[in-house]
Amino acid sequence: MLFFLDTADIDEIKAGLDMGMVDGVTTNPSLIAKMGKPYLPTVQAIAELVPGPVSGEVLATDLEGMLDEGRRLAALADNVVVKIPLNVLGLRAVRILAEEDIHTNVTLCFSSAQALLAAKAGATYISPFVGRLDDVGQDGMQLIGEIVEIYRNFDFETQVLVASTRHPLHVVQSAQLGADVVTIPFNILEKLYRHPLTDIGLDRFLADWKKTGKSFDD
Ligand code: G3P
Repeated sequence: MLFFLDTADIDEIKAGLDMGMVDGVTTNPSLIAKMGKPYLPTVQAIAELVPGPVSGEVLATDLEGMLDEGRRLAALADNVVVKIPLNVLGLRAVRILAEEDIHTNVTLCFSSAQALLAAKAGATYISPFVGRLDDVGQDGMQLIGEIVEIYRNFDFETQVLVASTRHPLHVVQSAQLGADVVTIPFNILEKLYRHPLTDIGLDRFLADWKKTGKSFDD
């Protein structure tokens, strides 16, 4: 299972790469806006830093605009994946870009029907937003299970990329359900490491050895 970082913050990406757990990065216009930096150069800088796939989203909403921006994003680096919204024009753009061997990440997916359409259009990744579904009282993880089942039924090559994750349980459940990728904010990556019994246990081991008065080499 791949871990992507959901951020446009270069410092967070460097820290995640140092931890050895980051396989790729996803961005969106909100995340890049938060950094206060120019759009395309930010995607390019991330793509240069990260060895794996880096999703950068189109801002246009018309077909020609999405295609133009998608091609420009893809031209930034080999590892750039073009993020496109899930609607009629978006999926038309996905099909055309797929024919040009440009990888796409279809974003803002909230239903199994939408995910089926994205796979038929030839999306490289589908991004169901589990946290935003939870926010409106629907079960985000149930959607992941449905999409994984549907894609397996037909051997679709589209990879399930669980997005809008809010806590470690979203990551664990994604793994249990067989999702291909989970994209997480940096704070969730940190939380995945933590368990109070690990800290207590380590403190106790070290305290017990300290009582002997001996060192590692004694
Ligand atoms: O990858 C999409 C993600 O960034 C959306 O997350 O927390 O804004 O719902 P959130």
